[in-house]
Amino acid sequence: MSSDTAPLTVPKFSGLKRAGRKITMVTAYDFPSAALADLAGVDGILVGDSVGMVVQGKSTTLPVTLEQMIYHADMVCRAVRRALVVVDMPFMSYQTGVRDALINAGRILKETGAQAVKLEGGREQAELIAALVQAGIPVLAHLGLRPQAVRTAGGYRVERDRERLLADAQAVQQAGAFAVILECIPVEIAAEITAGLEIPTIGIGAGPQCDGQILVFHDLLGFAAGGRRPKHAKQYVNLGEIITQALRQYIQEVQEGKFPGPEHSFS
Ligand code: KIV
Repeated sequence: MSSDTAPLTVPKFSGLKRAGRKITMVTAYDFPSAALADLAGVDGILVGDSVGMVVQGKSTTLPVTLEQMIYHADMVCRAVRRALVVVDMPFMSYQTGVRDALINAGRILKETGAQAVKLEGGREQAELIAALVQAGIPVLAHLGLRPQAVRTAGGYRVERDRERLLADAQAVQQAGAFAVILECIPVEIAAEITAGLEIPTIGIGAGPQCDGQILVFHDLLGFAAGGRRPKHAKQYVNLGEIITQALRQYIQEVQEGKFPGPEHSFS
């Protein structure tokens, strides 16, 4: 937790690596979740396209639209005072070329108040990352398991191609990304990438030697509806159980005439 309450800008966020301070990020998709995460003191909030799976109940992130990302990011930004807010560019909002990427990332920054965008890919996205950064749009890169590539990969798998990962990490740094997410890659490769980069690495399923960590809000809190929790996600509380228990108590009290009581009624 940080005692510094000043808003965390992109340069300050990247500077946390030089200061030797571990970086914490979570995802959030709405006002109350983002307000709680910010109050708790996380450094960064990602409005992830994981919203498609976690909140919308879909089986992949592919159907998520730009309008939906803007809708969720707007709520999150309204709640956040300190954390750096980054918004995922959804599938096909940047893969169609630099011009589309500029227009769509520009919309995200203009319409939500977020400070940066995230996109998946390494060397193949270097030109696009450079164009966004040149236009004044900070980019968080995303390597390793890339959920938007689920169809070509044939599923969600640990990425173990060391040469490719090292080259991609250098390429996104060279292109101007201010940090890079490493998702589901072996610990040793994540450590090697981290040691070789000036920009921070933020791991999810990439071991403890990354410069920071990110978890999906609902995984961390045990708030996922009946879903399978990934191996890399630590559950700090079982909110699902607490919520179900509270709802059952409410049902019982209504059925037994115990709620509402006089303190919840008007005369
Ligand atoms: O969309 C998302 O939540 C993400 C994180 C898992 C890094 O990309």
